[in-house]
Amino acid sequence: MKRLMNPHADDGRNHTVTVTTDDQQRQVEDELVQTVLASFRNTPDPRLKQLMEALVRHLHAFLREVRLTEAEWQHAVDFLTAAGHITNDNRQEFILLSDVLGASMQTINMNNEASAGATEATVVGPFFVEGSPEIPLGGDMAFGAPGEPCWVEGTVTDTDGNPVPGTRLEVWEADEDGLYDVQYDDGHTAGRAHLYTDDRGRYAFWGLTPTPYPIPHDGPVGRLLEETGRSPLRASHLHFMATAPGLRTLVTHIFVEGDQLLDSDAVFGVKDSLVKRFERQAAGTPTPDGRDLSGQSWSRVRFDIVLLPEPSPGRSK
Ligand code: BEZ
Ligand code: FE
Repeated sequence: MKRLMNPHADDGRNHTVTVTTDDQQRQVEDELVQTVLASFRNTPDPRLKQLMEALVRHLHAFLREVRLTEAEWQHAVDFLTAAGHITNDNRQEFILLSDVLGASMQTINMNNEASAGATEATVVGPFFVEGSPEIPLGGDMAFGAPGEPCWVEGTVTDTDGNPVPGTRLEVWEADEDGLYDVQYDDGHTAGRAHLYTDDRGRYAFWGLTPTPYPIPHDGPVGRLLEETGRSPLRASHLHFMATAPGLRTLVTHIFVEGDQLLDSDAVFGVKDSLVKRFERQAAGTPTPDGRDLSGQSWSRVRFDIVLLPEPSPGRSK
């Protein structure tokens, strides 16, 4: 420790102040990290212990790397407080935060290794809602939501190529104004449904040709995007969740070939294998099921889904 004259003393006496060297400062900081780590040493659950210890190490490394100021720390607390205040049953600002930081997608990448030709997973997003209406094969999940009709068809198979009859498919998407039904003022259900594959693993339904839309950006996450010069827009997509006994549940979307936003999706959700050709059909083109679209144009897309086996017991995934 060095002892120096206090430059701020104005009473003419020889005051000294204690100044720590870089080494001493580092030691103080290191000691705190070790003390905090030690506070978790009796955690009974080994996984929780591992998570907390790694969190402490990385968090302190971040704080020390950027030399966080107290004002910045307060700003971060205010940000998280605002994220809490705006969160409710229909708005999940913490998922959004995880999404725009790439944390959601990285967690999915680590837990859904592309394997055996299985369909790749991507983010679930905040707009999945339990209890969607059931539609029959060939039914319409738009329920009046505005947009261009889109015929979606495909199969569900396992990784050996066997069809998977009775797979429950949840499908949901934004309307052409970029809104999910949960964002409508009157809260009516539209743009979401579930259906089941037939005895040959086939499915088909009417949805909407996906269009780009911004993630909710009127809260703290939106301000973060603005302050960092990032766009809130998501590449156009249609969400799927496929569930079948004995097979791993898949949460994914399909994206639209040629969409300008494929390389700049706000939540890093695009995977090449999920980009599909939506074939545009001029008004008047006969529809696959004979539906009369009253002179509207429409599109069609094929999405064949391959599900992985359920992880065997004893494996973490
Ligand atoms: C979505 O695709 O619905 C979504 C995903 C992440 C953040 C916001 C929305
Ligand atoms: Fe979405």
